[in-house]
Amino acid sequence: MSLVSQEALAQHANRESCWIVVHNHVYDMTDFLDGKFICRALFCPQPEVEHPGGSRIILRYAGKDATAAYEPIHPPDMISSNLPLEKHIGVVEASEASSVPQTEEQKQREVVLASRPPLDEILNLHDFEAVAKVVLPPKAWAYYSSASDDEIAIRENRAAYQRVCFLPRILRDVTSVDWSTTILGQKSSLPVYISATALGKLGHPDGELNLTRAAAKHGIIQMIPTLASCSFDEIVDAAQPGQPLFLQLYVNRDRSLTKKYVQHAERRGVKGLFITVDAPQLGRREKDMRMKFVDESGTAKVQEGQDGVKKNEGIARAISSFIDPSLSWKDIPWFKSITNMPIILKGVSTPSDAIKAYEAGVQGIVLSNHGGRQLDSSRSGLENLVDVVAALKTHMQWPNPNFSIFVDGGVRRASDVLKALALGASAVGVGRGFLYAFSAYGQEGVERAVEILRDEFEMNMRLLGAQTLSDIGPDMVDASGLRARAGIAPQDNLFSATCRFFYFLVVI
Ligand code: HEM
Ligand SMILES: Cc1cc2nc3c(=O)[nH]c(=O)nc-3n(C[C@H](O)[C@H](O)[C@H](O)COP(=O)(O)O)c2cc1C
Repeated sequence: MSLVSQEALAQHANRESCWIVVHNHVYDMTDFLDGKFICRALFCPQPEVEHPGGSRIILRYAGKDATAAYEPIHPPDMISSNLPLEKHIGVVEASEASSVPQTEEQKQREVVLASRPPLDEILNLHDFEAVAKVVLPPKAWAYYSSASDDEIAIRENRAAYQRVCFLPRILRDVTSVDWSTTILGQKSSLPVYISATALGKLGHPDGELNLTRAAAKHGIIQMIPTLASCSFDEIVDAAQPGQPLFLQLYVNRDRSLTKKYVQHAERRGVKGLFITVDAPQLGRREKDMRMKFVDESGTAKVQEGQDGVKKNEGIARAISSFIDPSLSWKDIPWFKSITNMPIILKGVSTPSDAIKAYEAGVQGIVLSNHGGRQLDSSRSGLENLVDVVAALKTHMQWPNPNFSIFVDGGVRRASDVLKALALGASAVGVGRGFLYAFSAYGQEGVERAVEILRDEFEMNMRLLGAQTLSDIGPDMVDASGLRARAGIAPQDNLFSATCRFFYFLVVI
């Protein structure tokens, strides 16, 4: 393979001849800029497509290193397998690789990263969000933080926890307290698992591996997303022997691909299959979609509409067109026939669907509105928990070792987790809390997040008067205010937070 010098790269940094660098390999993208390509991605349903990212993004990296922009969104071999061999120009000379010019955004990001507060000044999971908001590129922040439509569901997820009060017990010997548990039969040092969040490399170059390594160190369980930036095998390879992992599944229209993926996961030792059932179509996440109009430096794009970008999609929709909207209860027996992993339906809301899931013979459900990213105004998992537990109690033996209820959405503190456990959850999923932790500080951030939760568990268990999690029950909380939303919800300032015309309107 030929070596490419900086001088050669610099001569191909325009529309007429556009070379870019991805993982030190140099590719000629000139023809790709305007043409269609045959998509060879595993999950791509369209045989011949224009580049969903448009041509402008590629041109921005002409003569430069595009790895950071390319890597989070594409499978690692997408560029090499889609470009004809003659477009693989060569590799950047090793001595020169570090001096491939950075874009202005990359330079700015390095400055911002250097000014992060030290990790020991991070006191709770909210702090990670504040740091992530500053250090993440605008596109990544938009994708991670966005929720659907008016973002009512995401706010209510958080608010719901604030409407449940503790009823602590006194004079119980709480010298030693233990909050460890098992989740689907797997040991976990906390009653918390890392919920699947897609595109980890938008936030950090190591992406989901930050979670895998921190989970190994602290004995918690990671759910691998179908749409991870790292490949499934890369994540499993990074796990320690015996480290339990779960898999989140988006079901492909092509069931043979789904079967292959699930069975591969089982062979590689995954301990639970979480089928996402609340996403037959991805919600409209407008912060994410708006990024199509805004360039990475945060300013409006000129000559919109001339680069082939579909403006009614954000990253979320661009990467999820393979998901099968025809998925139905009829498919459950098929899933049971292709795997022996416990099957959990992720994204259940109502008592009737919870009962149906139990009757369909799956091993559990996650009461979740997908972190507020799907149907807006859908009730929070915590609110649904109360009704679902009441319904299950009348329908079957409850608690039931063969059927678990998990909850996610808005969990940021151990006290939130304990409230959900008191109301009947087996364990709780955390998405953005860990996502922001590694976006801001990498693996160390996730480790710090677990340590913070651990300290919060210790304190809360003592103050509640609970020695182990089996002491936590409905008599330790007052959930009578859970439905009393009026007047308690946070001030609705969504318009100012998401509308880019707001300041303009205020000025005129
Ligand atoms: C042969 C090379 C490439 C192919 C075949 C390709 C293909 C794709 C495909 C299929 C998608 C939709 C998401 C997915 O399913 O993965 C996508 C999105 C995207 N691509 Fe590429 N891509 C290539 C190179 C690049 C490069 C070099 C860059 C950056 C410089 C880039 C930037 C993007 C962006 C930003 C999106 C997301 C668009 C959005 O926000 O909706 N792509 N690409
Ligand atoms: C950026 C982001 C990406 C997500 N990606 C997925 C996904 O690919 N599949 C899925 O089932 N859930 C996904 N979720 C939802 C989470 O698994 C989880 O339900 C939600 O984040 C819980 O709410 P929380 O973020 O408030 O903890 C995603 C959430 C976020 C924030």
